[in-house]
Amino acid sequence: MAKTVTAKAHTNIALVKYWGKKDADLMLPQNGSISLTLDHFYTQTSVTFATQLTADEIEFNGQRLTAQKAARISQFLDLVRQQSGQTAYAKVVTENHVPTSAGLASSASGFAALAGAASRAAGLQLDLTDLSRLARRGSGSATRSIFGGFVEWHAGHDDASSYAEVLQDPVDWDIQMIAVVLKATQKPISSTAGMARVVQTSPYYPAWVQTAEADLKRMRQAIAARDLQQVGQIAETNAMRMHALNLSAEPAFNYFTAETLTAIQAVTDLRSQGVNCYYTLDAGPNVKIICAGQDTDVIKTALQQYFEPEQLIVAKPGPGITITEN
Ligand code: DP6
Repeated sequence: MAKTVTAKAHTNIALVKYWGKKDADLMLPQNGSISLTLDHFYTQTSVTFATQLTADEIEFNGQRLTAQKAARISQFLDLVRQQSGQTAYAKVVTENHVPTSAGLASSASGFAALAGAASRAAGLQLDLTDLSRLARRGSGSATRSIFGGFVEWHAGHDDASSYAEVLQDPVDWDIQMIAVVLKATQKPISSTAGMARVVQTSPYYPAWVQTAEADLKRMRQAIAARDLQQVGQIAETNAMRMHALNLSAEPAFNYFTAETLTAIQAVTDLRSQGVNCYYTLDAGPNVKIICAGQDTDVIKTALQQYFEPEQLIVAKPGPGITITEN
C-alpha cells in the first residue's frame, strides 16, 4: 500500500530580502536573508506515490492546477524521485491558506510543505537542514519556511552549503505583523523573472549585494537584542532598496499600487505620531506592518480610515514544519 504523507508549513516574510540568484539551477541566492515565520498563513500538502498513476496529479484548493504551475511542481517531484529512487507518479493535494500571488509568499510555504510531504512519501528521511536544502530547489523563500520563528538562510556557495537555520525560536518577545491585504491584481512580473532581470540590468545590483551583508549583521544583532525599532528600521530600508532595484531595472517594473502607497504613508504617519511601526513589501502590492502586539489595535483603527477590517490580518511568529504519515 502506498503511504500518504501530509506536511504543514507556514509562510515567512523576509526582513532582509533574497532578491537575485547566482545559480538558477541549484537556486543559490546572491546574498543571505533573514525572515520571520508567521502563524496565520500556511500550506498543508499530502503526497502519495502510486504505481497506477500515469502522470502526476496535482490538486490545489480543490482544483486541478494549470499546466504551467503543475510543471514547476512536477519538476520538483522529479528531483525527489531522483534523490529517493522512487519511480511512481504522485498524487498531490494542497490546501493553501495564503492569498496566492499577492506578495504573501505562498511559494515559500507551498514548496516547504511539498518538500516535507514528498520526500517522506518517497521514502527519504531527511533532517531539517537537508529538507531546507531540498525546499530551496522548489522556491528560494521555501528554504526558510522549514523553520519557525526568526530564520536565516545562508547563501552558501554550492548545494550543500545553501540552507536555512533557526536564529530564534520560540520568539519570546512581543513582535507581530499586520498584513494589509490589498486588491488582488495581476502581478506585473513573477518574483523569479523580476529578480533575474534586476541581476542582469540594474546598475545598482552590486551595491545591493554589498549592503545585504551589513544588513544581515545588524539584523542578527537586533533580533538577539529583541529590539523592535532596529528590526523594523533595518527591514524597512532593506525592502525599499529591493524595490529601488526594480525601479532601476531595464525595463523598469514595480509591484506597488496606489493602495500600497496609501498604506506606506499611513505607517509613516503613525510613526511620526509615536507608534513604533514599520513596513515591508515583497513581490506584490501587499504591505506588512512590523509592530508590537500591544499596538495592533491602534494601528488597525488608524488603517481602517482607508481599508476594510477584513483586509487587516494580524499574524504572530509561527512554527516550523510538521510532517505526519497517515
Ligand atoms: C521578495 O522565493 O518567490 O519574497 O526562488 O524564484 O521561487 P523563487 O523566488 P521567491 O522570491 C521571494 C522574494 C521575496 C523576498 C524573500 O522572500 O526573501
